[in-house]
Amino acid sequence: MAQQAQQPREQWGSRAGFLMAAIGSAVGLGNIWRFPYIAYENGGGAFMVPYLVALLTAGIPLLILEYSIGHRYRSSAPLSYRRISRPAEAIGWWQVAICFVIAVYYGAIIAWSASYVWFSLTGAWGEDPDGFFFGEFLQASEAPGAITGYVPAVAWPLLAVWVVVLAILALGIRNGIQKANMVFIPLLVVLFLVLVVQAVTLEGAAAGLDALFSPDWSAMADGSVWVAAYGQIFFSLSIGFGIMVTYASYLKRKADLTGSAMVAGFANSSFELLAGIGVFAALGFMATAAGTAVDEVATSGIGLAFIAFPQIISTLPLGGSVFGVLFFASLVIAGLTSLISIVEVVVSAVRDRVGLGRLQAVLLVGGVIALVSVLIFPTHQGVHYLDVFDHFINQYGIALAALVMLIVFGWVLRRLPALQAHADSVSSVRLGRWWRITLSVVTPVLLGFMMWDGLRSELAENYAGYPTGFLLAAGWGVAIGAVVVGVVIALVPWRRADRMAAHERADGEGDEQDRKKEDR
Ligand code: ALA
Repeated sequence: MAQQAQQPREQWGSRAGFLMAAIGSAVGLGNIWRFPYIAYENGGGAFMVPYLVALLTAGIPLLILEYSIGHRYRSSAPLSYRRISRPAEAIGWWQVAICFVIAVYYGAIIAWSASYVWFSLTGAWGEDPDGFFFGEFLQASEAPGAITGYVPAVAWPLLAVWVVVLAILALGIRNGIQKANMVFIPLLVVLFLVLVVQAVTLEGAAAGLDALFSPDWSAMADGSVWVAAYGQIFFSLSIGFGIMVTYASYLKRKADLTGSAMVAGFANSSFELLAGIGVFAALGFMATAAGTAVDEVATSGIGLAFIAFPQIISTLPLGGSVFGVLFFASLVIAGLTSLISIVEVVVSAVRDRVGLGRLQAVLLVGGVIALVSVLIFPTHQGVHYLDVFDHFINQYGIALAALVMLIVFGWVLRRLPALQAHADSVSSVRLGRWWRITLSVVTPVLLGFMMWDGLRSELAENYAGYPTGFLLAAGWGVAIGAVVVGVVIALVPWRRADRMAAHERADGEGDEQDRKKEDR
């Protein structure tokens, strides 16, 4: 083990490799099925203002913070935070637990999308996409509850998704994650561009784009619109998960952190905008064909991908199958590159903690995640668990962990000046005082408001009308469970980390020395 502690850390092969992986992590289901509807519902064209403000005051500054932590401490999220301060390690394990939960259900959505690539060719949903999705395909129960039944047709594609993800992770940073993203991201852009071109040439596309982009300036005075903009930026940019800390820990010493954060942030938002155009052009076509207004058909998430899009594909006079294949293949690819990054957070943390080799860690950690995923989601209750996990872990996992992280690093430990010095020492664009102000004041205030606003509606009525017992177990139970897991793991003595720190001190050449120099 002592020997493994001294093994050099894996590294990206190039800056482009890291950037592709960071963009691959950011561009995911959130861009394609969440952004268009969030923008439409929150002021349309006018939403771009809060969205851009959120990108500049929270998204990019937080990306830079996570990159700086990962690059400076060169470890997984828990070990990096531990190196900043021993008790902060708990935040890292909390993020690891959050990633575990997200991974198990995110994989299921990718598997459904993969099945729908095939169904686009066969037109399996016939005249009733809704009935087909919940009935014939998922065989979902009316109400949630104890897990019963098992649907092999849902399980096999899910197993295949896990085999692909674990195989890529097992190949390592350079040969697995980097190479996969170098292929997947350009492929995704090409597929999606073809889809958007096909969508904007449909009859009625203009009505959809009009609905999406017509600005409702009064929305800007509504606090919930700003909350929506910040929430979208968090999920979409993969911040607050510990992913960017992990990915940046594999950077070479010479790395442009601020420049990379700007490229990744703007690339992600550009893709989001493209998705908005494609999705709303298609919804405009659907509304026109049905003789209704766009607001009758506009939706997001499962309703958009597995009900509205199949409807659109069936209505298309020509090229419906191609359109379906392009859309669902894009979901699969965008999802896979994000899922890989989410699982890597857990793999990397466990490797640092117990000193396992990559293959062993991927088999062990990935195996457990895949097993939980395959046991829960192909059951009759799977879709209900997915819905509740997704809602609670986003609202009271990612966003809350980010808030705690900012309070601890910004206010309690006051590490922002040192991290700024580190980022400035390696980056092309130097950070100003604005960076510390956005992270220590603007973002925490917005996040705090988000929490309060979310809690208020949570307590006013049960999420999606689910029974209280189910929400307590699968929603609150999972979100609070993630915090408890984080704290408990952090409390267990970690001798390996102590030895590594001692080794660094004795060596005199470790990161600790560099950090001290930078702090001066
Ligand atoms: N950033 C990823 C997404 O947008 C998690 O889906």
